[in-house]
Amino acid sequence: MSSIQETLEILRCPICGCGLEFAVNILRCTNCNRTYRVREGIIDLLPEELVFGSDYKWMNFYDRSASSYFKLFHRIIPVFTFGAEGRASRRWVELLELKRGDTVLDVATGTGKNISYLINKVGSEGMIYGIDISLGMLVYAAKISRKRKNIVLIRANASHLPFRDNCFDAVLHVGGINTFEEKELAIKEMFRVAKSGAKIVVVDEGLNPKMRNTLRGRILLRSNALYASMPPIVEFKKLASEVRVEWGLIPNKLLPMWPYYLLVSRKP
Ligand SMILES: C[S@@+](CC[C@H](N)C(=O)[O-])C[C@H]1O[C@@H](n2cnc3c(N)ncnc32)[C@H](O)[C@@H]1O
Ligand SMILES: [Zn+2]
Repeated sequence: MSSIQETLEILRCPICGCGLEFAVNILRCTNCNRTYRVREGIIDLLPEELVFGSDYKWMNFYDRSASSYFKLFHRIIPVFTFGAEGRASRRWVELLELKRGDTVLDVATGTGKNISYLINKVGSEGMIYGIDISLGMLVYAAKISRKRKNIVLIRANASHLPFRDNCFDAVLHVGGINTFEEKELAIKEMFRVAKSGAKIVVVDEGLNPKMRNTLRGRILLRSNALYASMPPIVEFKKLASEVRVEWGLIPNKLLPMWPYYLLVSRKP
């Protein structure tokens, strides 16, 4: 982990928004006195009162399925898709326009699948902050972060980020926003914590409307209800004039298994 002092400079209490101080394995809010635990290298900034509705259901789901998710996405799928998933992730990270030494936030980092691509861009002089609502998922991400000093993992709700305003050079989010209980708030939070001019890239499941009435499209839509999701363009356009949408398929058009949308934006 980076020096705790460096991290404290950008963290804030998720309840009252004030600064935090370090006191032997706990962080304490300097205003409301609330304490937060640090365990297994993960800072827990998720008080129970910040988990609502469907977020609770998905948090438990991912806590239970973290081990299978790790095996599937880190071991099986990369082989099974002939690396197509990795190539897609690399491209999403490219869109962030990161430079060496940048500080980047990975919202809903899960088992940390995108962290290695981010490290390649920011180098050992940069910083990567990964937040996720599921401690079970973060425990797997911690296996990667333990080997590096520039990865900080935090348990937090994407819609109540424990960071000060304007602290990230770029923000990435892959694969969760469709089910977030407070989707619009999560988007506002990504913009709030990004620096002016920072790229914000959001990816989640969604089938290109042009494919929805084809035979392949109908089969896909029947296989996973989330493939009917549409990108939250309206919410993005409230915050930025520069918003681009792309649709994609992993591994490819011949074998479309995971349809996704991609939103690329820049904080004004
Ligand atoms: C499909 S996984 C994607 C993980 C990772 N981004 C990746 O590409 O492998 C979705 C992740 O979203 C997280 N998640 C769901 N709701 C969340 C919320 N409200 N705040 C933060 N994380 C959330 C889950 O715990 C899970 O790790
Ligand atoms: Zn506080």
